[in-house]
Amino acid sequence: AVVEHTFNVGNLSISQLCRPEMNITAVNGQLPGPTIHAKEGDTVIVHLLNDSPYNMTIHWHGIFQRGSQWADGPVMVTQCPVRPAANYTYSFNVTGQEGTLWWHAHISFLRATVYGALVILPRGGAGAYPFSPKPDKEMVVMLGEWWNDNVHELQETAFLTGNPAPAADAYTINGKPGDLYNCSAPNHTRRFEVRRNETYLVRIINAALNTPLFFKVANHSFTVVGADACYTTPYRTDVVVVAPGQTVDALMATPDAPPVAGQRRYYMAASPYDSAIPGPGPPFSPTIATAVLEYVGGGDNTTTDIQMPDMPPFTDTNTAHRFLSNLTALVLPGKPTVPLGAMGTRMFVTIGMGQADCQPDQTMCDPTSTKFASSMNNASFVLPRGTLSMLEAHRSNATAGVYTRDFPDRPPLIFDYTADASDTAQLQYTTKSTKVRTLRFNETVEMVLQNTRLIAKESHPMHLHGFNFFVLAQGFGNYNETVAVPQFNFVNPQERNTLAVPTGGWAVIRFIADNPGMWYMHCHFDAHLDFGLGMVFEVLDGPTPETSVPPPPKDLPRCR
Ligand code: C2O
Repeated sequence: AVVEHTFNVGNLSISQLCRPEMNITAVNGQLPGPTIHAKEGDTVIVHLLNDSPYNMTIHWHGIFQRGSQWADGPVMVTQCPVRPAANYTYSFNVTGQEGTLWWHAHISFLRATVYGALVILPRGGAGAYPFSPKPDKEMVVMLGEWWNDNVHELQETAFLTGNPAPAADAYTINGKPGDLYNCSAPNHTRRFEVRRNETYLVRIINAALNTPLFFKVANHSFTVVGADACYTTPYRTDVVVVAPGQTVDALMATPDAPPVAGQRRYYMAASPYDSAIPGPGPPFSPTIATAVLEYVGGGDNTTTDIQMPDMPPFTDTNTAHRFLSNLTALVLPGKPTVPLGAMGTRMFVTIGMGQADCQPDQTMCDPTSTKFASSMNNASFVLPRGTLSMLEAHRSNATAGVYTRDFPDRPPLIFDYTADASDTAQLQYTTKSTKVRTLRFNETVEMVLQNTRLIAKESHPMHLHGFNFFVLAQGFGNYNETVAVPQFNFVNPQERNTLAVPTGGWAVIRFIADNPGMWYMHCHFDAHLDFGLGMVFEVLDGPTPETSVPPPPKDLPRCR
């Protein structure tokens, strides 16, 4: 079937917290934007009409885009921006994927308000879920961040000055901050209705720009059944942890009677996990977003109290790591399994923030500067600024001046990555450049991702476009092959599109490069992405038209 939507991106005037009325950029006047519901195998067509004052693109986070590479969305990687008053139609299949994904703007910091859910049911509908009990109902819970400022201007300032944008003013649940903030009004809190004795599938998405979040519901617990649109072994927990870009599908059962006698209302809450050590940095705001889960349909209601869950402290790395590392895949017949045997490409890639003076006119950056640059293997990624996106340059073989193919397989300097690098002798000049790593069609790739501590230890949520990858192992400290390899999970490793590499630690992932195109891999903290924490895989065409990048659609926007 074909699922068709029109996304009109424009101004939405909204009053939130202590700001009476402000204009934000939103789709169809909604925050979050519309949820797309599809079934596995469907074709999704979205007509983007840009009525906003900003250049726009939309990324379909987690969708493979096989054969529809021009619909992936990251600005200047797969397309030029859709200018104000211009249109573009995104068209892609959702084949071989089920679960919760989402969509968001992939330009500037505009995804702070331009985002929504993309729910893919099994072909056979909700009755065909490979877990039980089957849910009676479903709910989408999108966690986000809110600024009392224009996020486009915040991004421009951060990019030009090299100083990070301020922390969000609030966290949000489905666009609303909830009751616990100054100036909260009744219409600043979302309400979810539940009935007794039912099972809900809660689709939790972290759309925040810069913050991993803990999520709990007072007096209720979860059974996790999916993450990043991949089914997991059922996992019981009362706290869910989601890094920016990630999704979690969890069953939540309501009991025969509300958990606290006479009480109908329970808070859902989202609070930050700040992985930075030492931390938190000055702009960090440890506040809590809430929504209300309310029992309807009879029963006593003798109190107006609302139960509040106990949230983990914002420094609680143990809770975050336990959740994130304990998930395993639900092994299903016919589903891809981890590639074994000889690796076509093996890479060891450091990821982190550094201090570097990277003015736009400089190619080399001073490591002793107080300005920020982030990098992978010391290469700080910049988007090309010419007239061709990277995918256009790739397909027309006109890469000169757009990108180079020398992204390094290893960092230039081997040192103790997780030691405090206040010793600047350990720092190197960062190259600001547009480098890609070229992969042959169908080769297997293994990457060790190593967090560094050039400023602080941190857990970077690394997202790969175009693929899911298997997470073989992860841990704290420096990667050590002798210790790590025996821990590799070849049986049921979790499959994801976004992995929170443990703070000051490492993770090993594998994927098969069976999707030709230009695929961005980057930190899903927008603050870090903007300072260069990314790179692009260039996957060459396979032998047939079906395994090659197709010609661009007629309405593909042109760069001026
Ligand atoms: Cu959800 Cu490149 O991002």
